[in-house]
Amino acid sequence: GAAARDGEPRRGGPADSPFVRACRREGGPRTPVWFMRQAGRSLPEYREIRKNVGMLESCRRPELVAEITLQPVRRHQVDAAILFSDIVVPVAAAGVDLDIVPGTGPVVAEPVRTAADVERIRPITRDDVSYVDSAVRLLVAELGDTPLIGFAGAPFTLASYLVEGGPSRTHAKTKALMYGEPELWHALCDRLADLACAFLRVQVDAGVSAVQLFDSWAGALSEADYRRYVLPHSTKVLSGLADAGVPRIHFGVGTAELLGAMGEAGADVVGVDWRTPLDVATRRIGADRAVQGNLDPAVLLAPWPVVEAEVRRILAEGRATPGHVFNLGHGVLPETDPDVLTRVVALVHEVSARPAE
Ligand code: CP3
Repeated sequence: GAAARDGEPRRGGPADSPFVRACRREGGPRTPVWFMRQAGRSLPEYREIRKNVGMLESCRRPELVAEITLQPVRRHQVDAAILFSDIVVPVAAAGVDLDIVPGTGPVVAEPVRTAADVERIRPITRDDVSYVDSAVRLLVAELGDTPLIGFAGAPFTLASYLVEGGPSRTHAKTKALMYGEPELWHALCDRLADLACAFLRVQVDAGVSAVQLFDSWAGALSEADYRRYVLPHSTKVLSGLADAGVPRIHFGVGTAELLGAMGEAGADVVGVDWRTPLDVATRRIGADRAVQGNLDPAVLLAPWPVVEAEVRRILAEGRATPGHVFNLGHGVLPETDPDVLTRVVALVHEVSARPAE
């Protein structure tokens, strides 16, 4: 952390970086930028290093995790690194038989149906995810002043994979369990909240500078159902980290109607997708939170003048709050030209540069 000398926060280091300062709504030299899925298939060096290693296996090799995490930092000069891992890594560590299938996503061998299935998701300790602890420590040493973001999947999004058995467009089985067996639903989400919290705590203790809670599929719910079935559990995760001393980011897709409720869950920063302009989002979330977003990842496939105009529009709308972290509204698409990502970083930095205080 930022050790105090004469009561003054230490200057330099990741805690004083443009990214962490924006998360804290402190302003700073420029608007920071990073990209969800910045490490991954858009990068040839990623495809090369992953050639003969499965996704879950690669998440369990600290040197490989460190290398993959650093690739986009070297290439694009982004303002933050995000740990290379997956939301189902702690679920596998908790004893659930699952795999990450290329082109599909997480697939669970025996989907959760009963109280006994919920009981089998056991609590994790640091030893169950020692490879994550090691990877974070390696990265913090390598990254210097660049902050590292840790992350976990939120209870609803994890529950969807566990109940459906894999990716789903409608989340129909998940909703059937939620409406039909609310006690079982809450028991499952309570366990997943503890799991996410424990997984994030390992990353915080190892030195990450911020954490992001991914509730990617929460936008499938109405606000009323979100409040009833999801908000208490995401609140448990985020409030469990209130004493961690690092900013907490809370992200979902298609959440325009949920932004106010998601803000109430307690994060310092709320992620916004491209459907909601950032100034509108700030009004819904409240000006006491920072926002992160919100370029449509598909815009990166358009001609550069279109990309440039969209980046400038988003930076202008982001001025409605002192805390804007530039990002995409969802992850980088695999077919994205990495040189466009590099240009976006340079443009965000150039357009948002503020004179020194
Ligand atoms: O750079 C980063 O953002 C960090 C790495 C990261 C991965 N997964 C690596 C990964 C992060 C933050 C995640 C989170 C994650 N995983 C989420 C939440 C974020 C989101 O996208 O909404 C979700 C829903 C998952 C579940 C999951 N894992 C999906 C949907 C997929 C994609 C399936 C596919 O192949 O298209 C995965 C696999 C996965 N996780 C890949 C990567 C780089 C692709 C697998 C590969 O490269 O072989």
